[in-house]
Amino acid sequence: MKRIIAPSILSADFGNLQRDIEMLDRSAAEWVHIDVMDGDFVPNISFGFPVMSVVRKTTRKVLDVHLMISHPERYLRRFVEAGADYVTFHHEATSAPRQAIAEIHSVGAKAGVSVKPATAVEEIFDYLAELDMVLIMSVEPGFGGQSFIPESLDKVRRLRDEIDRNGYNCLIEIDGGISVKNIREVFDAGVDVVVAGSSVFGAENPEEEIVKMLNV
Ligand code: DX5
Ligand code: ZN
Repeated sequence: MKRIIAPSILSADFGNLQRDIEMLDRSAAEWVHIDVMDGDFVPNISFGFPVMSVVRKTTRKVLDVHLMISHPERYLRRFVEAGADYVTFHHEATSAPRQAIAEIHSVGAKAGVSVKPATAVEEIFDYLAELDMVLIMSVEPGFGGQSFIPESLDKVRRLRDEIDRNGYNCLIEIDGGISVKNIREVFDAGVDVVVAGSSVFGAENPEEEIVKMLNV
């Protein structure tokens, strides 16, 4: 199984965004996680295309875009054009997940779906075969710095079983409340990609923190 860290730039210093992205570019993190919020699907607004283009220009790492927006189908293509490698939309935000996946694939990116803490992961099993990634939210989407919801690990295990039983080529990502303190049990539950915002950017030395998280 892979072990990938995807630092979330939601916790970066936006006054020094380029410096922070350059730090991630040098770091052991293979991905950069980009949280897009629209003030409708979640009670917060983050950033959009202009910030995406700064990130894309500054690093060649895999750009992992997490869309916390209503009706994501309106913008999927534009995020891929702005440099997204993975585009993940929310299961709860669309009534046509299969079309969304097909649209992301048609413009050459990988497609992910995310489920909020209150959504059973089984709800996405009927289109799991078409996905490149499932993102399990381990906090309520909208804000960095919240506490990890322990029940998320059961969801990860159920999803891991379903993926392995069917031989699907689908990554499991988890997002929210993860640090060196709990990352080992997260990886042990079957996660491939860990998103980390405050634990990376709040660390005295973020680059060292990423290495520690990979080596627990
Ligand atoms: C929350 C975002 C997360 C967030 C994680 O809505 O999806 O990516 O930045 O932050 P931490 O790691 O601080 O919980
Ligand atoms: Zn996220």
